[in-house]
Amino acid sequence: MAIEPLKSPHAWVSDLQFEKIGTLRKVLKAGVVNPVANYFPAPIQKLALRIFGSELALSNWKDPGGWRSMVISYQDRRDRVVDKILCTLGTIPKALRNRRKLAARVIARLIDQTPHDPVHVLCLGAGPGHIINDALAESRRQAHATLVDLSAEAFDYGRRLAAEKGTADRTQFIQGDVCDVAARLDKPPDVVKMIGICEYLSDELVVQIARCISGVMRPGSAIVFNSISDAHGTDRFFRRVFGLKMIHRSPAQLEALMAQGGFGEFTSIPEPMGVYHVIIGRKG
Ligand SMILES: C[S@@+](CC[C@H](N)C(=O)[O-])C[C@H]1O[C@@H](n2cnc3c(N)ncnc32)[C@H](O)[C@@H]1O
Repeated sequence: MAIEPLKSPHAWVSDLQFEKIGTLRKVLKAGVVNPVANYFPAPIQKLALRIFGSELALSNWKDPGGWRSMVISYQDRRDRVVDKILCTLGTIPKALRNRRKLAARVIARLIDQTPHDPVHVLCLGAGPGHIINDALAESRRQAHATLVDLSAEAFDYGRRLAAEKGTADRTQFIQGDVCDVAARLDKPPDVVKMIGICEYLSDELVVQIARCISGVMRPGSAIVFNSISDAHGTDRFFRRVFGLKMIHRSPAQLEALMAQGGFGEFTSIPEPMGVYHVIIGRKG
């Protein structure tokens, strides 16, 4: 089987069809939509979201930045008109769908590059596992995944998703804290996925998790994580209305934290909205 060179992760994703925002809509967002969302009184916006039954808002109020709001952003169809509007026009939901595509492709190619079978992928803060299911489907190799998450509900959903996608016999679920997982693994991971979690973790926690995980990885094996920039322009809205406190870091800032945990040789790939970078690092 031909193995693609590690040097060109950008080439791995060059054929992906991403969601973008046109220039006119960008100007409208920056000049009108974002200032209104950011500065219109939050209690009135919350009341309107409650009256229109926004599941996206309800899921964030219950569990800010939790797995369910990801699922609503990923879905092709949504029950509530208000969620259709938020997820179709909003910058973050579009960027999230781009990040899913980008991460799944990168992980699939990293699986393909691993020089032995079966390949083991460890997913930290996995939620129900949409990204790893996409990657397993796209990879050309035999691979299995261990999903780690605090949420039992995410895994109820995740087991149904795995059954639907035909990956149930290749996915294992560990409910628990990512900080404790290293001791519970029965074999080292070849690829570690940390997508959608670093933006909710302090610098100290990112370094602590990186250290624990790199301790059980073989030299040269890969970690995939993402940074988030405030290019979406709606951080004030997310904080005041959704109660979401995301930690924005540049790829270089996050790479510096991962380096303290034992990783290096970083390659960072942006999604076209400029909100997320998906970053590959190697255990030193
Ligand atoms: C934003 S969701 C991302 C889900 C998925 N990775 C994705 O990108 O679609 C973050 C997930 O991380 C989980 N999580 C947060 N902190 C955690 C921790 N310390 N240990 C395990 N899971 C954690 C949450 O329960 C949630 O399911």
